[in-house]
Amino acid sequence: MPLVNMKTLLADAQKGNYAVGSFSIANMEMVRGVIRAAEEAKAPIILQIAEVRLNHSPLALIGPLMLAAAKEAQVPVAVHLDHGTTLGCIKHALELGFTSVMFDGSHLPLEENIRMTKEVVAMAKPYGAAVEAEIGCVGGSEDGSEDIAMRCTDPAQAKRFAEETGVDALAVAIGNAHGNYKETPHLRFDILEKVRDCVAVPLVLHGGTGILPEEFKQCFRCGIKKINIATATFDRVEQTVREKYAAGQIKGYYDLHCAEIEGAYLNAKKHIEIFETGGHI
Ligand code: 13P
Repeated sequence: MPLVNMKTLLADAQKGNYAVGSFSIANMEMVRGVIRAAEEAKAPIILQIAEVRLNHSPLALIGPLMLAAAKEAQVPVAVHLDHGTTLGCIKHALELGFTSVMFDGSHLPLEENIRMTKEVVAMAKPYGAAVEAEIGCVGGSEDGSEDIAMRCTDPAQAKRFAEETGVDALAVAIGNAHGNYKETPHLRFDILEKVRDCVAVPLVLHGGTGILPEEFKQCFRCGIKKINIATATFDRVEQTVREKYAAGQIKGYYDLHCAEIEGAYLNAKKHIEIFETGGHI
């Protein structure tokens, strides 16, 4: 199966009434675990990495790895730059062959977010890549370094934003936040429905870690077609490694390597089931 454009995956999800998991990865083991789960379930998926994570996993190294893994996979895989904040990094991802990029201007005044997003849409066009942007403010930050306050998406602003920028997918803020929630989140489906009713493009949910399965399902029945999962992957990998050490099952480096793959696999498998993505290839 080829490396695919995110736009195609999300259009199929819109027709089939399911969501596609967009799994953040940091190394080859996580890439392999996520793809194994997707292949087993016959599910399309998105592999992503956020700009803020590139200090640990440089784009010039991890990007080609993600793309090669996507090209070898037995299921359709899109490769996505998550939370791009600088035009230089977004351009680099496009040049490597990422099939979608996110520009995150959610912290900017609306006019500035529109202007910059339009610039990214124009930049991505010659590469045939899809563009995601965000309106409103998802709480927390992608790497946990900032406690960004949540600001729910205004449906009228979302409509104007989508129409003026020409983005392919729009991330909304409906009470979701990055990282582990301090309390079980309850999403604002009233806002989501209003946004869905006035925005034509597929919607994206960030901050997937910790959201209840029934709320995930309600999300994809109300227009969310891409769901980002990051912290849950990292936590599950770490937990699996710890458990296997405690059980005396890690006796050398390659046992550790396999435990990391397994952790990423178990997390992706769980979310693919909740999102009902299996069998859609
Ligand atoms: P979590 O870390 O809460 O899963 O959020 C993932 C995300 O939205 C990445 O953009």
